[in-house]
Amino acid sequence: MVKSDPLMTSPKKVLVTSALPYANGQIHLGHLVEYIQTDIFVRFQKLIGNTCVYICADDTHGTPIMLSAKARGITPEELITQIHQEHIDDFKAFGIEFSHYGSTNIDENRVLSELIYTRAKDAGAIYAKEIEQLYDPEANMFLPDRFVKGTCPTCKAVDQYGDSCEKCGSTYSPKDLINPVSAVSGQTPIIKPSEHYFFKLSDFESFLKDFITNGKLKPELKNKLREWFDAGLKDWDISRDAPYFGFKIPGTQDKYFYVWLDAPVGYIANAQAWGKQNNITIDELWNGDYEIHHFIGKDILYFHALFWPAMLKVSQFKLPDYIHVHGFLTINGEKMSKSRGTFITAKAYLEHLNPEFLRYYYAAKLSDTVEDVDLNLTDFVNRVNADVVNKLINIGSRLASILVKKCDATIATLTPEGEALISNIKAQSDTIKSLYTSLETHKAMRVIMELADQTNQFIDTKAPWDQVKTDPLAAAQTASAGLTALKHLTTYLKPVIPNIAQGVETFLNIQPLTWDSLQSDLVAGHKVNAYQHLATRLDLDVVKKIAFCETIH
Ligand code: MSP
Ligand code: ZN
Repeated sequence: MVKSDPLMTSPKKVLVTSALPYANGQIHLGHLVEYIQTDIFVRFQKLIGNTCVYICADDTHGTPIMLSAKARGITPEELITQIHQEHIDDFKAFGIEFSHYGSTNIDENRVLSELIYTRAKDAGAIYAKEIEQLYDPEANMFLPDRFVKGTCPTCKAVDQYGDSCEKCGSTYSPKDLINPVSAVSGQTPIIKPSEHYFFKLSDFESFLKDFITNGKLKPELKNKLREWFDAGLKDWDISRDAPYFGFKIPGTQDKYFYVWLDAPVGYIANAQAWGKQNNITIDELWNGDYEIHHFIGKDILYFHALFWPAMLKVSQFKLPDYIHVHGFLTINGEKMSKSRGTFITAKAYLEHLNPEFLRYYYAAKLSDTVEDVDLNLTDFVNRVNADVVNKLINIGSRLASILVKKCDATIATLTPEGEALISNIKAQSDTIKSLYTSLETHKAMRVIMELADQTNQFIDTKAPWDQVKTDPLAAAQTASAGLTALKHLTTYLKPVIPNIAQGVETFLNIQPLTWDSLQSDLVAGHKVNAYQHLATRLDLDVVKKIAFCETIH
């Protein structure tokens, strides 16, 4: 959702969230589309001098997590603690720089979920109603739709989930499933009534229409939302019966908040947890002058564009300023799949490959649309080698062998041609800034790589390896222009490949690059350091290792 003027006036305060990953599975390359996109945005905010707080957490509640803990013979608390550490390790390895990575199973979240619920209730937005649901008499629990399987009532395909048929695409109530079987015990479920609490989403229709119209949503998303409005907003069942891993609803004995109620509240609660450590109140952070950006995948738009704003509105919390929605990852053009060996976990990737390369590849593919993002493994190798290695890193490695080895590692005064190369690179800074701001990173990468091409052409034309034989000063001037270009190109790429950028800073012997430091070139007399290898080319055979054999650990 894009409101009025994008983030062009610095400095400002920005609060950013990514969706909270479920605490019952490993981070995979699909998740990373989101966390890398968000992290690039966050690093860019900081680079241009904005204050940016990046909040995320594990989404810990719900039946699947309760059952997965049971299957492993541990408590849900033990499971979420274990997964929490795994998630933190994976994100860290990919350079995802959260200000705070917490959990939804914290006191702050319980208190805030209760507060939001109570305010909604006081405002008349909650009502109770008896509904009938499938119940597993052996496991003594109500069954979520995904935990019932049976024959599709429409096309008679066997082994379909309780809510929809993968064969014919029809959706139905689990009560209509033929020969239903509980996935928990294997028994035939019975139908049992229970009182549930509902959130009156229908009351918020005109507010939500306003909220969506006023935010400049992408037309494709507006259309999707219009379909939902046209179908009529359904009231939302926010309660679940015991046994359930979650927060108990105040004033009840055995009713719990449905996980999707307390999950987004986790954004606020974890911002609050960060604020406590940094002496900033939640009122300053959430309801103050921070611009709030949510990053989500297209599958959870309904929750973020309808339920969540309605919950915030009724409980008098500030609404998000932007909701950025990305598409799904495909690998070689198809959905990630365990059987095809393309369900690639973060860990499997990290065993063989440099995380900065995935960051670059995603940046080169991502834009501010819900289009799916394809990771084609051959294209991945070609693109990363052509851009990051041949265009960028080679500038450093080629010129180091001239300047460091033959010219005392000392920067020389640039020639007018060298000056022209540099001013041309700097002239693109506003364009690149606005592309990062609007999440058009694929276009930003293209502009930056064109500038890298120009730099390489300059170097090739001057041929400092020949110049050095007859005119060492000319060679030093060529190398100095090339390395100054490398400095500025690295600034542009720093949000995407922060580790490589740090290697360049060390090599060039300069302070951490910022957008402001684009103003200053390497000055004559400055000494650079010995060149340290920055990254190794990708090899398709190694890349294939992550996809076709060792993917599921
Ligand atoms: N727990 C919920 C989010 C709660 S937010 C209050 C959830 N978790 S998730 O682990 O399934 O997904 C986390 C994020 O990763 C979501 O935004 C989701 O869209 C994104 N992705 C998960 N798989 C993905 C792909 N295969 N491709 C791209 N993004 C994907 O949803
Ligand atoms: Zn069917």
